[in-house]
Amino acid sequence: MSKTVQLQELSFETYMDKQMIKQRVKEMGKELSNEFKDKKPIFLAILNGAFVFAADLVRACKFEHEISFIKLTSYEGTTSSGKVTTQIGLQEDLTDRDVIIVEDIVDTGTTIYHFLPALKKFNPKSITIVSLLQKPEALKFPLKVDYIGFEIPNKFVVGYGLDYNGLGRNLKDIYQLKE
Ligand code: IMP
Repeated sequence: MSKTVQLQELSFETYMDKQMIKQRVKEMGKELSNEFKDKKPIFLAILNGAFVFAADLVRACKFEHEISFIKLTSYEGTTSSGKVTTQIGLQEDLTDRDVIIVEDIVDTGTTIYHFLPALKKFNPKSITIVSLLQKPEALKFPLKVDYIGFEIPNKFVVGYGLDYNGLGRNLKDIYQLKE
């Protein structure tokens, strides 16, 4: 049965339940294992949104790996500046490492596309992009997401780490904005 949540002035209804997400995250762990089981990669989870997905994804990965976190922003006020700045920097040395970027959602692609040149300056051996969700219709940059949990329509979603004005990250299911 469909559930509704209210976040400030907006209503959202269930779109993907927690079982469906859990199952897909487990599969993604297996898919990554095929490529990375002997490589000891470092996951780089993008804060804030990816913290829930990253926590489940790394526990679905049975191979040796490390995880670190980075906070990026491409917005100044309400408009995208197109310039991505790093809010929390990296402590780890990424030279010659296999890096796996973990995102909650790739929407326009602004954030990741503009972060890639900065990441390449650390001279990693490889860069792989993993996102739980992608809105293919919204993509504005030539960006290839290597592992995608679900492709979704261009509608605003919350839950499982994703927020509306900072709210809703704790919801276990993913909810879509009600028309
Ligand atoms: P992009 O830079 O346009 O690809 O947007 C990426 C970021 O925008 C994500 O990491 C989210 O923080 C946020 N975002 C994009 N779409 C949604 C959504 O539907 N719900 C919540 N946050 C979103």
